[in-house]
Amino acid sequence: MLRNIKLHVEADYAAMSKKGAEIFAEAVRAKPSAAYGFATGSTPEGMYAELAKLRAAGTDFSQMTTFNLDEYYPIKADDPQSYYFYMKQRVFDPLGLTKTNLPNGEAPDPEAECEAYENKLANAGEFVMQILGIGNNGHIGFNEPADRFVCRANYVPLAPSTIEANARLFDNPSQVPRHALTVGIHSIMMAKRILLLVSGAGKADILAASLQGDITPSVPASILQLHPCVTVVADKAAAAKL
Ligand code: GLP
Repeated sequence: MLRNIKLHVEADYAAMSKKGAEIFAEAVRAKPSAAYGFATGSTPEGMYAELAKLRAAGTDFSQMTTFNLDEYYPIKADDPQSYYFYMKQRVFDPLGLTKTNLPNGEAPDPEAECEAYENKLANAGEFVMQILGIGNNGHIGFNEPADRFVCRANYVPLAPSTIEANARLFDNPSQVPRHALTVGIHSIMMAKRILLLVSGAGKADILAASLQGDITPSVPASILQLHPCVTVVADKAAAAKL
């Protein structure tokens, strides 16, 4: 493992969630009003529940500014499948956050929305930590496997493997949006620290490829090998191939 990557292997999903929450909360206590990046997906749900417990125990998250990685497009904010809805329910309300940002899945012009989001990120000030999950195909945010890394926020078609993976969360696979708005690789790499959470045997191969394989846009998360400060919190099953 490269020296810039610190690995915590935890017994199971619950322990991973707890460890991730401890690391994140510690960063927020040190810099309460800085900017932080949030991710959606099933993986960080447990960590978000742990953060709510830490809030109840006295950690104040309310000063931070937050930026989410991505949003489906088009989608209405009040659609239960939107990432906005996910965040409001699991993070924004439980943690008392008000300075929150997500790409707008209802924007009339997706390209212009990406440009606007990129500008907001550029003016965010100190960006302390980016929480990340990893897609089964190695995507980070919705930066899908491709033949080049895309630096800036962009409007992307979802990879068939992502549509398939996310279909489990919809009543019918045909309901999975075919496009998304995502931050680019540059914004992720600009965070001072990356907190990557990974759970389950199904992610073991892609985690090993990302951290120990070639750095290639066909495995977008492999770019993290070039980030100066990455903390990976994985459960045993996900870390099995490292
Ligand atoms: C989603 C999100 C990613 C997330 C990934 C993994 O589609 N766009 O930000 O990290 O896929 O999701 P999960 O944690 O549910 O496996």
